[in-house]
Amino acid sequence: MAYAAFRSIGAYVPEKILTNSDLSKMVDTSDEWITKRTGIKERHIAADTEFTSDLGVKAAQKALKRSGVALEDIDLVVTATISPDYFCMPSTATVIANKLGIKGATAFDITAACTGFIYALSIAKAFIESGMKKNVLIVGAEKLSAITDYTDRGTCILFGDGAGSAVISATNNKEEAIIDINTGADGEYADLLMTPNGGTGSAHDSLDGEAGSCFMQMKGNETFKVAVRTLTKDVKEILEDNNIKSEDIKHFIPHQANLRIIKAVGDALNMREDQVVITVEKYGNTSGASIPMAINDLYESGKLQSGEIMLLDAFGGGLTWGSALIPFVPSK
Ligand code: ACO
Repeated sequence: MAYAAFRSIGAYVPEKILTNSDLSKMVDTSDEWITKRTGIKERHIAADTEFTSDLGVKAAQKALKRSGVALEDIDLVVTATISPDYFCMPSTATVIANKLGIKGATAFDITAACTGFIYALSIAKAFIESGMKKNVLIVGAEKLSAITDYTDRGTCILFGDGAGSAVISATNNKEEAIIDINTGADGEYADLLMTPNGGTGSAHDSLDGEAGSCFMQMKGNETFKVAVRTLTKDVKEILEDNNIKSEDIKHFIPHQANLRIIKAVGDALNMREDQVVITVEKYGNTSGASIPMAINDLYESGKLQSGEIMLLDAFGGGLTWGSALIPFVPSK
């Protein structure tokens, strides 16, 4: 049987930085309020001419180079995004594949908001274990600035742009295998976090009234509570299912939405500070890109070593959630 191995990581953030102080000139807020409530200090913003696919391509180029897998050997490209280059089609995955020079590989997008990268990982694992594909490029890429309402202080302080990517390849060595991935969803809570306009589910007059706006809307306070509850439950389940104790996890890499959420979940799981990876202060919430960007930070700082177990945990619009237990096994 083929197993799926996590071979490499890469990430990219656009050059421009939007600080809390910049935001305080745009809406009624302050660096103090944003820092205290979210832990975020700054986020990166893509240029007008820089699309989600461009961010994804730069992250993927790094991941591909580090994996040593040739472009012609990539047989599946999955992109997790809620800010695709185009509404409906073509998928951002096909755009990314084309810009990278990958020809003929299966390519598609998935929409699972901030859980997107974990959903993409589960797809890669399933395709590889079934024998259908051998080398999967997964990309979490977001230009959230394009769907953020910069007059709404409740949301515009949270989000940023960026991309992360990983190569997942077939292996016969069970010790290299992704251990487990759990994903789930509950549409009953869809209204907590949504882009209500622009799709066929929106009222037709909203397209006139709000110029087809695709801005994100969020019930922040309720989202916060459901996030802490869901993230904690999700991790407890995957650890129990695999007979692993939280103290044995080397790197806990949660979705980077809000420092208070990360700390509350870390405390509920009795994680030590040195186990929890935190990057939200630099990047804000980059949805489907946040987890691979955090893994990349860890890798580039030299703190992620071969064989170490990563525990990923995410929660996002939908609602969706997911967790994963993964050994990092770079190509030799
Ligand atoms: N600056 C100053 N004041 C603000 C701001 C702001 N940017 N935003 C809201 N306020 C005010 C509110 O108007 C309110 O004022 P009032 O008491 O006079 O009515 C007060 O601050 C408290 O508002 P709350 O919404 O209760 O503030 P809260 O402590 O919940 O913080 C926040 C808001 C940061 C959005 C928080 O709820 C949060 O992080 N929620 C989770 C968000 C999240 O994680 N979303 C993403 C998950 S899924 C995904 O990533 C796609």
